[in-house]
Parts: sequence; C-alpha cells; structure tokens
Amino acid sequence: MNVVIIGAQWGDEGKGKIVDYLAKDAKYVVRYSGGPNAGHTIVVDGKQFALHQVPSGILYSDKKVFLGAGMVIDPEALFEELKMIKDNGVDWEGRVFISDRAHLILPRYRQMDKDRDASRKRPIGTTGRGIGIAYSEKAHRDGLRLADLDWTEKLADLEKEDLDYLDKYKEQLLQMRVDLTQKMWEFRKENILFEGAQGAMLDIDSGTYPYVSSGASCAAGAATGCGIGPHNLDHILGVFKAYETRVGNGPMPTEFNATSEGELCQYVRDTGREYGVTTGRARRCGYLDLVALRYACRVNSLDSLVLTHLDIYDAMDQIEACVGYEINGKIVTDFPANIDQLNSAKPILQKFSGWKTSLKECRSYKKMPKNARAYVEFIEAFTGTPVSIISVGYDRDETFIRKNPWKK
Ligand code: IMP
Repeated sequence: MNVVIIGAQWGDEGKGKIVDYLAKDAKYVVRYSGGPNAGHTIVVDGKQFALHQVPSGILYSDKKVFLGAGMVIDPEALFEELKMIKDNGVDWEGRVFISDRAHLILPRYRQMDKDRDASRKRPIGTTGRGIGIAYSEKAHRDGLRLADLDWTEKLADLEKEDLDYLDKYKEQLLQMRVDLTQKMWEFRKENILFEGAQGAMLDIDSGTYPYVSSGASCAAGAATGCGIGPHNLDHILGVFKAYETRVGNGPMPTEFNATSEGELCQYVRDTGREYGVTTGRARRCGYLDLVALRYACRVNSLDSLVLTHLDIYDAMDQIEACVGYEINGKIVTDFPANIDQLNSAKPILQKFSGWKTSLKECRSYKKMPKNARAYVEFIEAFTGTPVSIISVGYDRDETFIRKNPWKK
C-alpha cells in the first residue's frame, strides 16, 4: 500500500506535519520533487524542525527515507541539514538514500537563479536556491545526475570550480546513492509514503505558469519522480489550509485587500505564523479559494483531503470562502489558465458562521463544533472530495483521522 501526499494550494499547507504524522505507519518515506526551495516544519514534543530536502519521515528512527529522481539536490545544503538533524539528537546515518537519477544543484546556480529572476520584466520571486536553473539544465539535457559522479567523460567536461566542489561531497553522496526504481519494485508490497513538495498550483504544468516552480509537484510527479508506475499509487491525499497563502509573485484571486482587509490579513498571518521557512518572507494571505481547490482535486485525482490550520479561525465571528470568480462581468467556476483573467478575477464569497471555541483539544470529528463541521462539509460537497484528516494545531498530536488513508 502506498500513499501520496501533495500540497493542494500554493505550498506551505502543512505537508511536513502530515507526512510526519502518517509516516508512523510507513516503512519508507520518499520525497519526489523540488529541492531546497521547500520548507517543511515539524513540531515534535515542542521541538521544531525545519526540513528542506530531507523527507519528513526522518524523525522516526526506524524509517528509511529516499530523495527521488524528480528532485534537484543541493549537496552543500543537504549536508548542513543532516548536521542540524544530528545536532538535534536524530541519527540519520544508514537511513537516507538518494536516487542515482536525481539531479544536482551546483553552487553557481543559486546566483544564476537570482540574476535571472532580477532581469525578468515580471519576476517570479523565486527562492534563489538555483531550482529553475537545475531543472532547465535537466530539460536541456546538460544536467548533472548523481549517477554521473563516476562517469569519467562527463566529469572531464566540468570546470575546476565545479569539480572541487563535488570532490568535497562525492564520497558521502556515493554512499547514499541507490537505484530507486529497483527499490520501488522491491518495496511494492510494503507501506511507502510519497512526499510532494511545493503545491499543485505551483506545478510546472497545471500551476499558474509562469508563476510556478520548475518541478512536478502534482500527484503524477510521484510516479515520474520515483520510477513507479501511476497504476501503483494507491491513495492520493491533498493537504490544504482553511485559508489561502502564496509566497512570491503571481495571481492569487482571493488575496486579502491590503487596505480594506489589512487587519484580517495581519491576524491570519500572525496567528497562522505565515512567514516562509526557507526565505523568511511574509506570505500573502487570502480567503480559501474553493475554485482552485476543486481544480487541484480534479487534476490530481485526489482521493481525500487533509484540512490544516482550521484553528486559526477559532476566534472569528464569520468566515468566508470563494466559490466562484467574476471575470469581466462573467461568473467563472473553472480555474482559468490565462494570467490576465486570474489577475482581474474578483472572488465571489460565501459566508459561514464562526464557532468561537478553541479546536486545539479536539480529537474527533463528532466533538467538533457544529459550525466547524458545516464549513468542512461545505468544502467536501463543493470539491466532491472527502476530508479524511483534520489538523488543529502545530504539534504532531494535534491531529485526528476520520478515514485512515493506509486502509483500503
Ligand atoms: P523556485 O522554486 O525557487 O523557482 O520559486 C518559484 C516560485 O515558487 C516562487 O514564487 C516561490 O516563492 C514558490 N515556491 C517554491 N517553493 C515553495 C515552497 O516550498 N512553498 C511555497 N512556495 C514555494
């Protein structure tokens, strides 16, 4: 049995926490896309871990974790992250493996990424981690894979600066190198958790292109990014927040208006700790966009949803969510590809009564206040997708399951 977890919005939905939560029933955790642009926060017994490249299952001492072929890996940042993990008392040696087909980020890519974004007429607001450069080298067929580290002819093409850099990490990287396609076949009868990065709306194909990242953050990316056929993905979970956030530039139809909704925006940002784990940037915040969420459910065949940050609304009298856009005088309920249309979309908002109670102690759906359940049930009906897990706080335990994705 395997479970795929993706972000169903623009990233930062709380995937790290959910991967960590579900990892207790997995034998292997495999991250399949992105690189050090991701930031997954996990809180265990009050201790906070910010992970970027290492799969979130690492905090369980009995799990093996894999970095997939769909990832672009920054060796320097990876070993810094592994050091941080070890300094915090978690032994990782012998448990972290990297696909031999994964591509590597060279240090100069970071500056190239920043320069390229700065020179754009319409910057994307990248994380500056060299992600787009590594993926474009890959698409150009000039990329460097882990498998190439002992391909003598290929190495001879590299500049001295790159070779000196690789020399520092080569031995350790080669010790972690595996044929992930073979492992996927070997593990096929066991519990594997596939961890997506970024979010469905940042996917290179189905996201708000060009304001996207460069990897396959869609559910299908688990198949291409690990070397497992799409038929073998058993349950696909999409994680979403009770509201919307986005980092960097690009359309966001439900973004709070800085003047008229400035107070609400600051409240959500502060209560939801909406500041980037990787860059520290304040995240843009807005109403839950059900048009975008339903699109994400459809294009990713989501079997169920995980709702996070619901507790952020605990103190509010009223909650609103977007059920359609008004674009050039027309009502639109399918998510458009055109950026002009998205930029001019005015959200049509539906109001819900607040529950005015803390959800923090809530550990079952039945015990949730009626108004909170009504919000959840509206989302399920609108998207046609059941909400199987609800998170009501940052800690691993502040979560409850309505239907276990590990059970068929
Ligand atoms: P890049 O992935 O650094 O090229 O950035 C492209 C866009 O994706 C920018 O708007 C980033 O802010 C956004 N992005 C990349 N990774 C994440 C993430 O993990 N969470 C949220 N946004 C991200």
